Amino acid sequence: MTKKPSLRFHLGTLLNPLSDGVCESIRNGVLVVDSRTGKIRGIHSLEEAHRRYGKTMSGRSVIDHGPALLIPGFFDLHFHWVQDEVREMPKASLLTWLKNYTFPTEMRFADPAYSKDRAKAFFQKLRNSGTQGGAIYSSIHETAIRSAFREVKGHFVMGNVLMNMESPPELTVGEEDSLRLVKRLLKRYGVRYALTPRFAITTTPRVMKEGAKWADAARAFKQTHLSETPGEIEFVLSQYRKIPGFEKVRSYTEIYHKCGMLGSRSIMGHGIHLSSEELRLLSRTRTSIAHCPTSNAPVKDLGLGSGLFDFRRTERAGVRWALGSDIGGGPFLSMFDVMESFVRQNRKAGVKAATRVKALYRATLAGAEILGLGRITGNFKVGKEANFMVVPVSEQVLAGRNAEEILERLHAGVKRRSDYDSLVASAWIKGRCGSRARSPDPAEA
Ligand code: GUN
Ligand code: FE
Repeated sequence: MTKKPSLRFHLGTLLNPLSDGVCESIRNGVLVVDSRTGKIRGIHSLEEAHRRYGKTMSGRSVIDHGPALLIPGFFDLHFHWVQDEVREMPKASLLTWLKNYTFPTEMRFADPAYSKDRAKAFFQKLRNSGTQGGAIYSSIHETAIRSAFREVKGHFVMGNVLMNMESPPELTVGEEDSLRLVKRLLKRYGVRYALTPRFAITTTPRVMKEGAKWADAARAFKQTHLSETPGEIEFVLSQYRKIPGFEKVRSYTEIYHKCGMLGSRSIMGHGIHLSSEELRLLSRTRTSIAHCPTSNAPVKDLGLGSGLFDFRRTERAGVRWALGSDIGGGPFLSMFDVMESFVRQNRKAGVKAATRVKALYRATLAGAEILGLGRITGNFKVGKEANFMVVPVSEQVLAGRNAEEILERLHAGVKRRSDYDSLVASAWIKGRCGSRARSPDPAEA
C-alpha cells in the first residue's frame, strides 16, 4: 500500500462567506488541505497553487471536482432530528400540529431499536445535505439522544426536550426524573449537551432553573422556543401568571430570564413576535436567536404560518442570530432551501437587504460564531478545519460575476424544493469525505 499524500488539493470554485455583505468567490480555486491535521493549509487560484506547490500538486494528491462550488459546511442552529417524519404533515397552527402529529411521532422514540435505526438514517441524510454543525432537539427519551450522539458527526450540541407539564401522558416526565437525566447526560456529553426545555408551556420553572444552573457550570449551551406564534405567547403568559413568583411577569422573554435560560450560550428558536423591551433583554444577556424561515413560512409553502422574522429590527437591537431549518416545522433538511426561503419571503415584503450572500453567511459562519466556533470553522481560512461541501453546477452558474450572482443562478436552476437535498455531491469533514457511499477521494479508494 502506498502512503497517502499529506497535502490534498481540492479544485473548484470557492465560495467563502465572510460577513453579511461579503462573500469571496474564487473561480478555478484550490483549497489545500493537510490531511494529517484535517486543516486548511492554503486558499489559492489554480496558477498560484501550481507556482507554490509545483510537483507536490499532482497525481493522487489532486481532487478535481470539475465544474463545482466548494462551500463551507452549513450550520443549522435549530432542528428536531426526531421530526423527520412530520416535515410534510398538514400544518394549520403550531399547537395543533404539535398535538396531532409531532407528539405522537416523538413517542415512538421510546423504542431503542426504532431510535437506533432512525438515527443512522437521519444523520447520514443530514451529512449528505451539507450540514456539519448546529443545535439539535431530541425527544424526551434517553435512548433516542444516545443513539443520536452515536451517529452525529461534526460540531453539534444536542439536548433531550424537557417536558413536565401540559404534555400528553406518554411524554410527561416528573421533575426529579428530568433533572436526574439532565445531570447524567451533562456528565456524559459535557459541552456537547444542550439543556433543552421544549418551551415554557411544557417545562416547569424548577426544571429550567436547576438545569440552567448546571448547564452554566458546565459551560454547556441552553436552547428553547420563544415567541413563535401569538397563540403560544398568550397561553404561556396566562399559565405563568398563575405560578407563584411569576404573577407580575411582563413578557415571555422575562419568564426565561427569571428561569436562568438567557445568556451568551443560549439559543432561542424563532423569536418572531418580540417587544422592543424583550429584544433589549436578549441583547443585554447576549442571547442568540435561531431564525427558521421555512418553518415560519405560510402554510401553503409547507410552513406553520408563524410570521416573518424582522431581521433588521433584531440586528438594530444588537441581537445575534443565525438560520435554522426547524425540521419538522420546516419541511426540508437542506439549508439551501432555508436560505432561499429567507431571501424570497423578505423580497416579497420589500426587504432588499435579504441578499443571498447574507443568507449564506447566516447559514455558515454566523452559526459557528454563535456556537463559539468561529475561530475553528464556519468558512475558509488557513488554520481552520477543512469542513466543506461540493456542489456540482453548470458553467452557466459559474459564469456569475460574483458570489451573489452565482448563488442566484444556482437557486434559479433548482426546480423542486426537495431537489435541494441532492445538490451536494460530497461533504468533507476535517478533510475527510463523510458523505455518500462512494468516496470521490482517490486516496481513500
Ligand atoms: N414549540 C414547542 N415545540 C415545538 C416544536 O417541536 N416545533 C416548533 N416549531 N415549535 C415548537
Ligand atoms: Fe423547533
